[in-house]
Amino acid sequence: MKVTLSVLKADIGSIGGHITPSKAIVDEVRNFVKEKSKNLLIDFYIGYTGDDIAILCTHERGVSDEKIHKMAWDAFTAGTAVAKKQGLYGAGQDLLKDAFSGNIKGMGPAVAEMEFEERPNEPFVFFAADKTDPGAYNLPFYLAFTDPMYNAGLILSPKMSDGFTFRIIDVGYTEKDKIIELNAPEEVYDIAALLRDNERYVIESIHSRASGNQAAVVSTTRLHNIAGKYTGKDDPVALVRVQGEFPATGELLAPFQIGHFVAGFMRGSHNGPLMPCKLNSTISFFDGPPVVTGAAFCVNNGKLTEHADVFDHPYWDHIRDQVSEKATAIRRQGFSGAAMLPYSELEYGGIVEKLEKLEKKFKLVD
Ligand code: F6R
Ligand code: MG
Ligand code: MG
Repeated sequence: MKVTLSVLKADIGSIGGHITPSKAIVDEVRNFVKEKSKNLLIDFYIGYTGDDIAILCTHERGVSDEKIHKMAWDAFTAGTAVAKKQGLYGAGQDLLKDAFSGNIKGMGPAVAEMEFEERPNEPFVFFAADKTDPGAYNLPFYLAFTDPMYNAGLILSPKMSDGFTFRIIDVGYTEKDKIIELNAPEEVYDIAALLRDNERYVIESIHSRASGNQAAVVSTTRLHNIAGKYTGKDDPVALVRVQGEFPATGELLAPFQIGHFVAGFMRGSHNGPLMPCKLNSTISFFDGPPVVTGAAFCVNNGKLTEHADVFDHPYWDHIRDQVSEKATAIRRQGFSGAAMLPYSELEYGGIVEKLEKLEKKFKLVD
């Protein structure tokens, strides 16, 4: 059967700063979705990562479906009402528009969806990252889909030997979706030339070249493009189908051992290493470090199995220790140079005003 996987996520308020949602708002979102899911959804799962709540659901309505998006918008609105009642910090933070207008994209919440013909066995991984932005997936997904150093299947399995097509979006262009399609392996240098710049070029989706089947989709929202000012980082979600003609789950996870530096961390204005964490992890050191979680499922006639927590394993404890060392190392240099994001990516306006004031105090001397 043809099934659609949709994940819609938002920060609608959290306890003690931007740390974690309260149990009450997660329950409210879950109960709302449960109530509205009749005749709309086949199945759903509610999770949270840092201060973001995600609704993962399965249905037969295709991507960008108005009813699915409205259900999620209403669930986040209901959760926001509870967040306000509880006095949570940043209640309704990601709901940037007053009224729903047909598609949740461009309204604040992040969305990643794909529709496909279900395979007899259909495993996939749902990733959610907090305190970072959509470009955080560029490097791990590039490596998992193009590099035999991480993906042994590119050498060993004939099903992947034709490679993959990358759809990459220029998130700096706001009028429309500006997208380029490039093929690996022939065009990996071009793909790398774009993906090097995580803040500008972001993987939007990946397809198998042999079958045309979609492997991956990433949410690509830029919140400050919508709001015109800082409203929080664009904490991204992604869905990746695994096994068979796609990377094995372990091949997909392998590049996350790098704990590469991504934009985000404190005030969405720093570089920090991406730490693979257990599901429902909270946020701590310097409002970070940036975290990514992964829940693996199988979907069968649209029904989800229970999930497996992909980073809940002793191997990843060791990686988390190494990533902590990287986080401590870069934090030692505070605001200096590479520790803080370039001017164009700083998410707070205060520094602009400060520099304008200082500009007037400069004197030209011989
Ligand atoms: C980053 C983030 C936090 C906040 C910081 C300040 O995405 O959510 O680092 O930026 O806690 O928060 P405000 O400005 O709300 O006091
Ligand atoms: Mg927040
Ligand atoms: Mg967040």
